[in-house]
Amino acid sequence: MMFKDVHYAQYMTEVNQRLSSNGIFLTVKGEKLNTMTIGWGFIGYMWRKPIFIVPVRKSRFTYGLIEKSDEFTVSIPFDGLKKELALCGSKSGRDIDKFKAFGLTPVDGKIVNTPVINECDLHYECKIVFKQEMDPVNLDTAYDKSCYANKDYHTLYFGEIVACYLKE
Ligand SMILES: Cc1cc2nc3c(=O)[nH]c(=O)nc-3n(C[C@H](O)[C@H](O)[C@H](O)COP(=O)(O)O)c2cc1C
Repeated sequence: MMFKDVHYAQYMTEVNQRLSSNGIFLTVKGEKLNTMTIGWGFIGYMWRKPIFIVPVRKSRFTYGLIEKSDEFTVSIPFDGLKKELALCGSKSGRDIDKFKAFGLTPVDGKIVNTPVINECDLHYECKIVFKQEMDPVNLDTAYDKSCYANKDYHTLYFGEIVACYLKE
């Protein structure tokens, strides 16, 4: 794969557009390699660094993996892969190898040890620098009701963006 480095904020509009429609891929490598769909997330600037925040509920297989990792990657298709995003957002890596099952190809990134997804257009490589479990005490009660009926709260993982590139 050929990488074309881009500024981390250059495609923010496209990322937010994908997040709020079909989702994007969050890939984590632990004892297993796995990817899941996320529909929420943030790209921003903090601690003098570009940061990507990803929210993972405790029930996800990804949660066990990311808790033991210090990095993750995010891969975004500008269009298409809708079926794959729906499947990676409903099937669990506990049961299947989603890369094999859904025809996704892991390829080595530039800096971190976690691969990115070849079939996507835009990639972020991130090193985890902070994490925060949600404390419902601090959450708006209407949000608590509408998003956390099962009390399956997110942990937010803050990843320093150490590489951002388009696949050529
Ligand atoms: C469009 C979409 C967006 C999603 N966003 C999130 C998210 O932001 N955080 C999360 O924990 N789960 C989210 N999910 C659910 C997970 O992708 C789903 O539970 C997945 O099967 C978890 O995979 P795993 O068990 O292999 O980690 C989303 C699912 C879809 C379809």
